[in-house]
Amino acid sequence: MTSVSIRDAAQVLRPPEDGLAFLRHDRARELTLEPSAVALDGGLVAGFEPSGADVVVDASGCAVLPGFVDCHTHLPFAGWRAEEYERKVTGVPYEEIARTGGGIAASARALAAATDEHVLEQSTALAHEMLVHGTTAFEGKTGYGLSRDGEVRAARLGRELASRVAQPMRLTGLFAHAVPPGFTADAWMDEAEALARECDVDALDIFVESVAFRNEHLARWGAVARDIGRVLRAHVEQLSTMRSVPVALEWSARSLDHLSLMHPDDVAPLAAAECAAVLLPGAEFINAEHAAPGRELADAGAICVLATDFNPGTSPIASMPVIIGLAVRRYGWSVLEALIAATLNAAWVLERSEYLGSLEPGKRADVLVLDGPAEHIPYRFGHNPVAIVFAAGEPVWVRPDQAWRVTRS
Ligand code: NIG
Ligand code: FE
Repeated sequence: MTSVSIRDAAQVLRPPEDGLAFLRHDRARELTLEPSAVALDGGLVAGFEPSGADVVVDASGCAVLPGFVDCHTHLPFAGWRAEEYERKVTGVPYEEIARTGGGIAASARALAAATDEHVLEQSTALAHEMLVHGTTAFEGKTGYGLSRDGEVRAARLGRELASRVAQPMRLTGLFAHAVPPGFTADAWMDEAEALARECDVDALDIFVESVAFRNEHLARWGAVARDIGRVLRAHVEQLSTMRSVPVALEWSARSLDHLSLMHPDDVAPLAAAECAAVLLPGAEFINAEHAAPGRELADAGAICVLATDFNPGTSPIASMPVIIGLAVRRYGWSVLEALIAATLNAAWVLERSEYLGSLEPGKRADVLVLDGPAEHIPYRFGHNPVAIVFAAGEPVWVRPDQAWRVTRS
């Protein structure tokens, strides 16, 4: 294994103390971005002194961060929906797009038509694109299977993808994503429950929305998750206000995702709970949604998280730096608030904050060297600031124009 000495960094992001499972947003200002060195050894963060090493990195002028953790994507998926995006932006209503075969159903058809190899090739290439943008761990979901067999296959492909990519990947069973043709929502929940019991997934997810499943289905999903010992997550309050937050909290949800139209009365209870608010500003932007109350949630001390929601419909965005740029602008967040949301707190959603998400001795050495200070991530919106990516202490990506920083002995 390679030993690494990252020297003379202008900024190294450190948590206020070691061993935190997450950091609530009212404490984000306690994070530090100070000049330092970082030593990596045996695949782990070893310390913060300059040391002799196999690989020396000149990080002068650079920020050094833990790798981004993208805790909400819809990988693996097949194909894209660019023509649907053009219809959407030129004013065709969602209902008409759905009626003419668009939306989740279109991606379900694409997945069904694609071979396993095609799905895995596309998804592996996208995971590499994520890596180049600094994502060193991510989550994927089922949900485009839209039939019993299709969802079993999606779960199998999800695990297959995990075995091929450079990053640790967690898999969520989004078995209640859309109501498949020929089913009522109630009848499909029977199938979804059977899938939850038979498929190998780390967490369960459901889309609660006027066009999908209701709060009573969310409560049933909570009971299933508890029964089989899986974390409960839910897509809620994205397109309409369903008051799903209290229901999900009653079932001890680990995360509530989207929240664009959450009711103001639900901000304080969510912020007080041990439940992450996973905000998805890429989907908000692409889908022209209302902005989630990110500032209010942060001030109330919620466990705020950022993710791409990477999917072919509402968020074809692989880049966490773009998501950070959107979040800072839309929610009025500081860079520190965005960074904790994209690292440690996201790792907590995936039940991995013991090993991932912050630079602490003994944690996995997933480390980014940026080409400038951290404040440039949102400011130079659209620019990829990631110069060097270490995964488990190995340099897995060096941007060609930054190769001069790396010396191997
Ligand atoms: O997170 N909200 C539901 N699911 C996805 C979109 C799925 C799609 O349009 O393909 C989301 O935005
Ligand atoms: Fe999603």
